[in-house]
Amino acid sequence: MSALLCTIVRQPSRSKSLHQSSKAINRFVKLFSSSVPRHKGLVLGVYEPNSEEGEFLLTPAAQKFNEHVSGKLKRVLKGTAGKKLKCGSSRVLFGLEETDFTSVAVVNLGKQDVDFDEDEQVYQGKENVRTAVAGALRLLRDAGETEVEVETCGDAQAAAEASFLSLHSFDEFRAEKDRTPSVKVTLFSEEIEQGSQVVEKWAKGEILAAGQNFARYLMESPANKMTPTIFSEKVGENLSQLPNCKVYIRDQSWARSMNMGSFLSVAKGSEEEPKFLEIDYEGGKSDEAPVIFVGKGVTFDSGGISIKPSANMDNMRADMGGAACVAGSLQAAARLGLPINIKALIPLCENMPSGKANKPGDVVTAMNGKTIQVDNTDAEGRLILADALCYAETFHPKLILDVATLTGAVMVALGAGVTGTYTKSEPIWNTIHTAGMITGDRMWRMPLLKYYTKQVTKADLADVDNVGKKRGEAGSCTAAAFLQEFVSTKEWIHLDIAGVMINIDDVPYLGKGMSGRPTRTLVQFLELLSKQ
Ligand code: BES
Ligand code: MG
Ligand code: ZN
Repeated sequence: MSALLCTIVRQPSRSKSLHQSSKAINRFVKLFSSSVPRHKGLVLGVYEPNSEEGEFLLTPAAQKFNEHVSGKLKRVLKGTAGKKLKCGSSRVLFGLEETDFTSVAVVNLGKQDVDFDEDEQVYQGKENVRTAVAGALRLLRDAGETEVEVETCGDAQAAAEASFLSLHSFDEFRAEKDRTPSVKVTLFSEEIEQGSQVVEKWAKGEILAAGQNFARYLMESPANKMTPTIFSEKVGENLSQLPNCKVYIRDQSWARSMNMGSFLSVAKGSEEEPKFLEIDYEGGKSDEAPVIFVGKGVTFDSGGISIKPSANMDNMRADMGGAACVAGSLQAAARLGLPINIKALIPLCENMPSGKANKPGDVVTAMNGKTIQVDNTDAEGRLILADALCYAETFHPKLILDVATLTGAVMVALGAGVTGTYTKSEPIWNTIHTAGMITGDRMWRMPLLKYYTKQVTKADLADVDNVGKKRGEAGSCTAAAFLQEFVSTKEWIHLDIAGVMINIDDVPYLGKGMSGRPTRTLVQFLELLSKQ
């Protein structure tokens, strides 16, 4: 009945354009033909009322829809559907419109014109859109919709990011019947205008989410299905097809020829062959120095001889989170065609206990000739990064950024709220800080002081020690100080992402599991750099 009513309302009148008339006829035809899509939902946003008695304010898309259903949306919102519709939460309405959509999720986007929140160091308006869209989409998926159109909610990029991030799931090893139903998401057709900025922004958001989802996939995969060899093949297949991308998969003998004794000392404890991935993306001028991203790629960290407790050890399959975020961000950068040269360096190995593994007290030599006393074999990330950083230096880069699930200590200090970030460069800090405020994946600056350096440069038997002298103190800071011993450029930044590796319920628009954070921040960082 209501569908008929709405078709009558949309009947072409003589004053309407040909385009409008044919649209209405199409709707009429669709209504009475058998090809009516039965499971399509729509996500529409509304802003919180300005006063307690006030009404929800409709976004332009919601307004259009409201006109299309003769004001029914507004009327429904004034009733019970609008009651207790808190910021970020949604109501699924059925039967509002039956020509195109079986259901409509109306979501409260919070106050209109929310922008940067100084206290929270984030563009809160963008976060509100991400949270709202993700919640609404999940409800529609639960309601059985297989296709959903999402409106821009005032920020097409953020809406697309949330759409594709929130629907991601890892079902590769589940029976078909137990897999999360897939939902096809597109931008609300009423907002699609070929070549418009809105469409471009939506596409950009989709690319960013796909980059992060690729990182999540790599991280979530069990360690027996994501060995150094498999990781390099998967990333190689994925990235080598992208424009201006070249992938080189180096093996153990190559690492030997480069004198990467520190990296190889970790790798030799495992039966799995180590790999060293090198990826070039040339989006900038040919003579421009590259930005180098280094990612920790420990595909499983048992701790080695300094073995970890068995509880939750399975999480250590994601100890290649740095490598995964680097791969995901390069994928997105290449798909976006960012005008910048990037080189990714990814040392990949397992950290296992065996007869060949590093023993506490062993001394190994890094590529730059420095000797390292391995006092704790579980501090392996810094050992493999040391060589990758030395190698990075040989390319005379514009800057070096390394990203690693490096210490449990950063999780204790900062939790999943922010990434612990270390740099002596003011401009680099400002750029990554800004990038995090835009993406919602925030960065926090930590100290790189001599106080910490002293704790790793007084080893009994070697130049440096892989753990700080004062056990139990500032573990993330001493790890950063250790890495600093292997870079001479001041244009270096280190991200300790152990705290943000897993998402419990910290980021509402990501599901539970390995987070792929901070992939989008890395891409945003590159974009900002490319404009400087
Ligand atoms: N991969 C771990 C760090 C980690 C812990 C990542 C928890 C994600 C979640 C790293 O290799 C490690 O084991 N670090 C040790 C260093 C210590 C021995 C100095 C740690 O943090 O306990
Ligand atoms: Mg470890
Ligand atoms: Zn580790």
